[in-house]
Amino acid sequence: MKVLGIMGSPRIKGNTDLLLEEALKGAKNQQAEIEKIVVDKLKITPCREYYGCLKDGNCVIRDDMDDIYPKLLEANGIIVASPMFFYGLSAQLKALIDRCQALWARRYVLKNLPDSARKGAFIAVGATRGKQLFDGSILIVKYFFKAFDVEYVDELLIRGVDKRGEIKEHPEALSAAFELGKRLVQKIS
Ligand SMILES: Cc1cc2nc3c(=O)[nH]c(=O)nc-3n(C[C@H](O)[C@H](O)[C@H](O)COP(=O)(O)O)c2cc1C
Repeated sequence: MKVLGIMGSPRIKGNTDLLLEEALKGAKNQQAEIEKIVVDKLKITPCREYYGCLKDGNCVIRDDMDDIYPKLLEANGIIVASPMFFYGLSAQLKALIDRCQALWARRYVLKNLPDSARKGAFIAVGATRGKQLFDGSILIVKYFFKAFDVEYVDELLIRGVDKRGEIKEHPEALSAAFELGKRLVQKIS
């Protein structure tokens, strides 16, 4: 059982990072093999709409996405984590998601992506308390997962946390992240 954490914040040891770390500890607690990728450290060109992927399911751009596609397809569970930037996901994470049009092409155009029983969860953190703060990002993550047949099964949405590491002042949020990681593995098993 593999759980992949996708860390969408450029701020290392920031709120997203710490929440995701806890979630992955929760998954490990349930005997999952865990891996975290820090999107900001990767070279991911935004989608250029060359549409090579419609021919064979592969993106024509050569960069760090080459290593990410297999990880996305091999993981039994995926946790996407992002800070809210202008009521959306970080640009780094959105670039990774857009490049998964190649997986969408495999599933919906070429119809050669095998069915899976994979599941995913979303962790998001923002500074404000806006009612609709997470709405757009939840939709994006749901359709990101759907592109390669991962079911959106859980979420943890934290409002009112801003400064680097401020999440440590909210131990209940960190334990909720740990529980989310545990639950994800239980839901897949
Ligand atoms: C470019 C930028 C845009 C932001 N936009 C929002 C926003 O629309 N709504 C919000 O609640 N917080 C917003 N924030 C605040 C971050 O979401 C908040 O500081 C969060 O805790 C950062 O998480 P991190 O430490 O994981 O990067 C923004 C921060 C930055 C840098």
